[in-house]
Amino acid sequence: MKSICIIGAGNIGSRHLQGIKKVKFPLSIEVVDPSIKSIKVARERYNEVLSSTIHKISYLKNLDEVSKEIDLAIIATSSDIRRKVTEKLLATSSVKFLLLEKILFQKKEDYRAIGELLKKKGCKAWVNFSMRTMPFYHNLKGKLKGNIQMAVSGSQYGLITNIIHYVDYISFLTNCNNFKISTSGLDSQPIASKRQGFLELNGTLDVYFENGSNGSFTCFPDGDAPYMIEVFSKNYRCISKENEGIAQISSFPTWNWQKVDSNIPYQSDMTNIVAQEILTKGICHLTRYTQASDLHLQLFEGLLKFLNGSNAKKFNLYPFT
Ligand SMILES: NC(=O)c1ccc[n+]([C@@H]2O[C@H](COP(=O)([O-])OP(=O)(O)OC[C@H]3O[C@@H](n4cnc5c(N)ncnc54)[C@H](O)[C@@H]3O)[C@@H](O)[C@H]2O)c1
Repeated sequence: MKSICIIGAGNIGSRHLQGIKKVKFPLSIEVVDPSIKSIKVARERYNEVLSSTIHKISYLKNLDEVSKEIDLAIIATSSDIRRKVTEKLLATSSVKFLLLEKILFQKKEDYRAIGELLKKKGCKAWVNFSMRTMPFYHNLKGKLKGNIQMAVSGSQYGLITNIIHYVDYISFLTNCNNFKISTSGLDSQPIASKRQGFLELNGTLDVYFENGSNGSFTCFPDGDAPYMIEVFSKNYRCISKENEGIAQISSFPTWNWQKVDSNIPYQSDMTNIVAQEILTKGICHLTRYTQASDLHLQLFEGLLKFLNGSNAKKFNLYPFT
């Protein structure tokens, strides 16, 4: 029986767990979280999912209790402890495959340290940038020609925690990994993130990819401007309203607008697909660790410089998750 371990069973971890329950062959599942409250919610969410497959599941408080041989581990804690948790897991257990949540880590040196550790341990790792795997967004790649522009806007949606998803998506669409950022449109004062202990920024952040594609991401500090994702090129335009599950598309030569269902999947309907592919074929369409590391560092080193240039308080880490 293949073994799965989910570390961090909070909001997203419990959704990964629901997805894991939908895997079509029996698994031995371990869920690790020191929070009694998170474990309680994760257990309830697991029980909500109907599945004809019988898995073995155990809920653990401590990483020391996990199996010594793990086929797939998912690390869904916040960024501040991800390096520590990853190191502890890889020291305790032999892990074949690893799925890490974003934002990966808070310090530049963590990225290389974990990269080297993964290599040393022979562990194949991906980062959960799911946008590139969602059928609606995935299929846009074949439709957009030439340079791509992406614009995301809305009120109070969590600009920095989400921006790494957009950057990854542009990199997927354009096959380009190198970009520069412009922080001149960001509000200088960070605000508290909805996740306790972390920060967020409002305003506009622009990214300029080496191949000429760009992104402009705006988050208003107040109001209720709808969250909208726009992707366009010289021949195609798409405006996705994720909250409504629809998108408007328009293309060359008529440019008539058409309304389509975007069917953005929940995490609990994606993790099963990812896990099945990894466990049966050793492959996955998410972003590999090395590429994801490069994207994180280009973005967060730029943001760290911005924070330290615009605030009296100085930061020695990326205070985001
Ligand atoms: N890929 C995505 O689309 C996506 C979506 C949501 C969240 N995320 C990311 O996932 C991360 C977690 O977000 P969240 O909203 O689930 O946060 P959360 O606070 O709800 O969950 C984090 C969990 O980690 C647990 N934890 C703390 N220390 C631990 C330890 N030593 N071992 C095991 N568990 C431990 C906490 O008790 C908590 O239950 C964030 O970095 C966030 O950005 C990614």
